[in-house]
Amino acid sequence: MKNFELYVPTKMIFGEGEIKKLATEAPKDKKILLLYGGGSINNNGIYDQVIKALKDHTFIEFSGIEANPEYTTLLKALEIIKKENIGYMLAVGGGSVIDGTKFLASAALYNGDNPWDILSKKIRTFKGLPFGTILTLPATGSEMNSGAVVSRSETNEKLVMGGPGLFPEFSICDPTVVRSIPKRQLANGLADAYTHVLEQYMTYPADGPLQDRFSEGILQTLLEIAPAVIEDPANYKAASNFMWCCTMALNGYIQKGVPTDWSVHVIAHELTAFYGIDHARTLAIILPSAYEKKFEQKKEKLAQYAERVFNITEGTLKEKAKSAIQRTERFYQSLDIKTRLQDYTDDYEGFSLKVANSLTEHGLTALGEHKDITPEVAAEIVKMSY
Ligand code: NZQ
Ligand code: ZN
Repeated sequence: MKNFELYVPTKMIFGEGEIKKLATEAPKDKKILLLYGGGSINNNGIYDQVIKALKDHTFIEFSGIEANPEYTTLLKALEIIKKENIGYMLAVGGGSVIDGTKFLASAALYNGDNPWDILSKKIRTFKGLPFGTILTLPATGSEMNSGAVVSRSETNEKLVMGGPGLFPEFSICDPTVVRSIPKRQLANGLADAYTHVLEQYMTYPADGPLQDRFSEGILQTLLEIAPAVIEDPANYKAASNFMWCCTMALNGYIQKGVPTDWSVHVIAHELTAFYGIDHARTLAIILPSAYEKKFEQKKEKLAQYAERVFNITEGTLKEKAKSAIQRTERFYQSLDIKTRLQDYTDDYEGFSLKVANSLTEHGLTALGEHKDITPEVAAEIVKMSY
């Protein structure tokens, strides 16, 4: 196993009815900025619960953080943070609102002239403005990790940032919030979490049997509960397991001591940046081609995944590994997620070249567990996904 350090300081508060604990978790001696998205929380009762819990706190609100949080929107919130002397933030939303808040946590204490540098120059954040979260959409794991992704549509960019200063202080995860999530977003959440596990698992055998079994356990659980979640998001048993799987998929634990890939995410972000396709759907488009392209390097783990997760016991190692790719694609499709770029746009000719150029421009030139996915290889993967 590789050496590692694990630092995950987020306090998790999980379960039905726990939003009321915001009253004691959020500080009373600081002015709070309450951040949320396009208004779903106004319609599903989450806003009312939050306001009730904050009755003894001083806070102001900033709403309108969009899916794939926009840099220009976040700059408006940054202005308020500075003008109003905000000392704490509360993100109420899915990955987009939480990621937007992480950007603000970093930008609020950043000394440079241009906050975009945090993303474009990959500046890590060691200290940020403190914040907590109320998760409304299980998917990204952002509630218990220190990463964020911010979009800038004017330049077709979607870039990642992070650092140990960006963990939420606490996250309240009440699975009853899943009730109001539309089917499309439920599917996205399931597919995103599933792919997060694969990005940390589908590499090569690396003497991490515990990490492997953590990952296989999350994958199996997601496969098992997905139909129930889609069928009835008010099913608490399914919703609570869905929510915890999503958190566990990307809170750092399963990737410690083992190699990770993440090339599917890096390439797929370009599809959101250029076409605005939902994050999870971009993963479903890229992953099958990425695994075909890197088949020789991944076939042992693919076969292990076939055996342990899909119970495929017949056939050669290669046959099992090939079935594993097909079964993964079928899982996305079972969620009503299309797995080809042409299912989303007609305007894809020449796109692979744009991806290669963008990756080069952002210094993302050695991706994957072997660091051998160059922009040229990434372009081939994108072409295979048309
Ligand atoms: O804006 P509102 O009105 O809140 O509506 C949202 C939004 O339209 C809605 N929604 C959220 N909770 C709801 C709800 N609707 C009804 N009931 C509820 N309880 O769902 C829509 C999508 O929300 P969003 O936050 O965009 O979804 P998600 O959580 O999938 O986040 C996606 C973003 O996270 C990034 C993605 O790139 C994308 O920008 N990621 C962040 C990661 C991280 N920080 O670790 C890792 C991921 O790989 C990912 O890249
Ligand atoms: Zn993701």
